[in-house]
Formats: sequence, C-alpha cells, structure tokens
Amino acid sequence: MFLPAKTTRTETALPRACSLAEGDWHILSGFWHPVAWSEEVAAAPVPVRLLDERLVLWRDEPGIVHAAKDLCLHRGGRLSRGKVCAGQITCPLHGFRYDGSGACRKVPALGAEVPIPKRLRLDIRASAERYGLVWVCLAESPRAPLPDWPLIEAGIGTIARVPSAVWQASAARHVENFNDLCHIPFVHPDTFGGDEDRTIAPYRVEIGAGTLSYEAEYTEQTRYKTPGAAPQGRRTRHYAYALTLPFASWLTITDAESEFHVFDIASPVSAMTTRIFQILVDRTGRLQPAEMIAFQNRINAEDAPLVEAQSPLELPLDLRDEIHIPADRMSIEYRRMLAGLGLGAETILGPTAPGD
Ligand SMILES: [Fe+2]
Repeated sequence: MFLPAKTTRTETALPRACSLAEGDWHILSGFWHPVAWSEEVAAAPVPVRLLDERLVLWRDEPGIVHAAKDLCLHRGGRLSRGKVCAGQITCPLHGFRYDGSGACRKVPALGAEVPIPKRLRLDIRASAERYGLVWVCLAESPRAPLPDWPLIEAGIGTIARVPSAVWQASAARHVENFNDLCHIPFVHPDTFGGDEDRTIAPYRVEIGAGTLSYEAEYTEQTRYKTPGAAPQGRRTRHYAYALTLPFASWLTITDAESEFHVFDIASPVSAMTTRIFQILVDRTGRLQPAEMIAFQNRINAEDAPLVEAQSPLELPLDLRDEIHIPADRMSIEYRRMLAGLGLGAETILGPTAPGD
C-alpha cells in the first residue's frame, strides 16, 4: 500500500480547512491578534481559534501564558481537553507533559530513566499579555508591534472590559464599520445617533506606518436615553479615530465635560468569523463599569446584525468593487492600506450574507 508523500512540517503551514486565501493567511499571521482576556486563562487550559488555527493557552507556575497548536504529536490528542500539572500542559490521552518551551518533560509510560524523543515537541506560537488581553502571533517573527495604547495602563478613570462577542462577519468589515461616522445616525438612533440629514464635513486622513487616523465633530442626539424614551437633547463632541493595522481601533470622544475612549480589536477566528474585544475608558471616573458595558452592548447589538448582512461578507479591497462618497475617505484609505499589505490579491468566492 502506498502512502501519500510526506510534506515537511513548517512553522507557517496553513491550518487544515483554512477559510482564508493562502496569501491573506500568511500576511495576517504575521500580526499580533488578541485571542482571550487574561482572566480567562487561569488554572485550566483554554482552547482558542485564530485564523483557523486551533490553539491551546495555558498559564505556567510563574504566571506566564503560553500558546501552542492544540495538538499532541504522539497520537493527535487535543491538549485543551487535558489539564495543567505543575505549570505544564498535559495531554488528556496518555498524560504526556510539555513545558512552555514546547519540550516534552514527562511520558508516564516511558519511565524516568528512558530518554524522551527529541521530536516530541509542541508547536509553540508567540504570545504576549498586555491591556488585560492575551495576544498571539502565528508567524515566527511579528511584522509589527502591539498597538501602543499607554492610556489603558495609566490607571486614570474607570476601565471596563466588554464581554467579547463573536460576529459572523469578516474582521475588516467590522473595523470599517467601527471607524465610519456616516452610519451612526441610521444604525444607532436608540443610543447616540444624531440627525440623519446632517452632512459630513470633509476631513483629512493622516497616514502613518501601519496607522491611519482622522478627527471630526459629531452632534449626538440621544446618547444616554433608554430604548424607546424621548431624546435627551444634543451635544456636539469631538471624535478622534486612530486605527492600527490590521484590525485594532481606538476612538476618543471628548467634549468640555468628558473624555471617553473605546478600544476595539477584531480578532479573525476565520475568514468570516470574528471575535470582538473592547476596552472602555471613562477618564472622568464618573461612570461605573456595568453601565459602560451595558451601553456598549446596546451599540454592538445595533451594529452586528447589519454588518453580518453586508454583501459580500469580506471587505472588497479593489476600490472599483463598491461606490464611494467623500465621507468614505477613512474607509477608502483603510482598504488601500490593507491592499498595500498584499491582502485580497487572490480572489476567493466566500460565503454570501444570509438571505442572498
Ligand atoms: Fe456602529
């Protein structure tokens, strides 16, 4: 009987049943993406998925988080269904134990005097903890650092972490929607949307190394009303959007009395499935975390079903594929920058939105 030829296992091999185009996967795997809140990684191993790669996270005895492919090379055991023993991830099938470097430290059936095969190693991926999040980079060397957000670590005001939700949408569609001023009156009339007929003044997008930003005034009409109640009046606030490629956004909303920040990171679970991580900072300290989270969840509930219904689900990066208006300057530049990374070079016919 003939067996198929063995391919060489490499660090950058695509996951099985990868939903992304191969080129897109290789580009996105070079960035850091959040995969869990820090507090989620405690005594038990945690399964996560990033760019279709199944990973296991665990915390060792000094408290360092590690990430590896969720696979024991002995018999293909799913490590996330095992346990952590003395800071080492332990396979549920035969009790093989691995340390944070990926080295196998114990094979119970082998006996302590017999050497452990050197090839018995985990496929470790780079991980980091920052801003209360666990970040993973699937590539051997990240092509960009983590977003630089010292404000989250300054300890001023109230910080709230929104329980993350999974959207059935591409990460880039989510990011574009988050950074779009034009959609607010129509999608958010029950939270903070202003007049539908207010035109958007021309604005300038600043482009940096892997970043883009713009600022605008926005008149909110109903920010804190409860659903169904009358508008509470208007207030004009300054909106400053700052986006770090590929999927990390930071919105600062200020007026004379307040300074509010929304950090929003879209983590690509697969091509069309995205886990959303949001950190809110009220610099005045007047708001309570529970009310900040409740209001943000109302906003998210307005966005999600509409972004999940956009067609196509993936963000078209060829500017000829959709029609643009001047108020789309940010989204035009975002699409250009993603295309500039090399994304979207291969056309894939992904799934369409529900109802198409
Ligand atoms: Fe929105």
